[in-house]
Amino acid sequence: MSNLIDGKQIAKEIRAELKKEVDALREKTGKVPGLAVVLVGEDPASATYVRMKGKACEEAGFLSRTHRLSEDTSQRELLDLVKQLNEDDEIHGILVQLPLPDGLDEQEVLYTIDPEKDVDGFHPFNVGRLMTGDPSFVPCTPRGVIELLDRSGVEIKGKRAVVIGRSNIVGKPVALLLLQRHATVTICHSRTQDLPGVVREADIVVAAVGRPEMIKGDWIREGAVVIDVGVNRVGEKKLVGDVAFDEAKEAASLITPVPGGVGPMTIAMLLQNTLESFKNHE
Ligand code: GUN
Repeated sequence: MSNLIDGKQIAKEIRAELKKEVDALREKTGKVPGLAVVLVGEDPASATYVRMKGKACEEAGFLSRTHRLSEDTSQRELLDLVKQLNEDDEIHGILVQLPLPDGLDEQEVLYTIDPEKDVDGFHPFNVGRLMTGDPSFVPCTPRGVIELLDRSGVEIKGKRAVVIGRSNIVGKPVALLLLQRHATVTICHSRTQDLPGVVREADIVVAAVGRPEMIKGDWIREGAVVIDVGVNRVGEKKLVGDVAFDEAKEAASLITPVPGGVGPMTIAMLLQNTLESFKNHE
């Protein structure tokens, strides 16, 4: 039997469930959840992500608005757009695609988004609520990691989870979510001593460092569950994760591939957060 966690298939199922719910809401209220995505500049990877978000929105019956601003947009113009979206009753979720071009103050932009429309979960109000164990909007990729574990029947409670990476977008929030679900959590990073030894203790490994195939197969305990959040481009076309997949899959009881693991879940969770925001507002 395959030990792959098929994130693409799971995300597809979630998007279909969301569409059903949105169709019913449209029937009942005449309204649908709306997501505004703001892209500043021409970064090709960001442009691809933004296109995918818009497409997924439309397919699930959401209102999708994409604001494409030029590279030389001023901080003032960007803040004015965010404030306008804060006041827009058709919009329930606002996402400003990161990273922003040099010269723009990312923190000020994220702090300006209405926390009640912050479907990325990056506003300090929502970060604080996650920290205190009363989460409102949870960042999409970490939420996708937990959803993959749940939908694959993995028990989290009481397990030893090792998170490799401490970013605000993935590592820290994933660790908090695992803790909230009663895992014993260790967060590792570039200064961790004996990283292989720490990873070998884990029942659940979450890799989010952004280094191609850094986590080797012989670091994975027999039967561990491996969730690979890394997306690293090697050469022209090939994408690999943070985990040496071919080696690790021999030891793991369950493992996510790259691509087709965590990636597709991020957009599904963005739609989920936007639907929840709609329900809170309407
Ligand atoms: N850039 C890479 N990942 C993300 C994300 O989850 N949200 C936003 N806004 N930008 C990103």
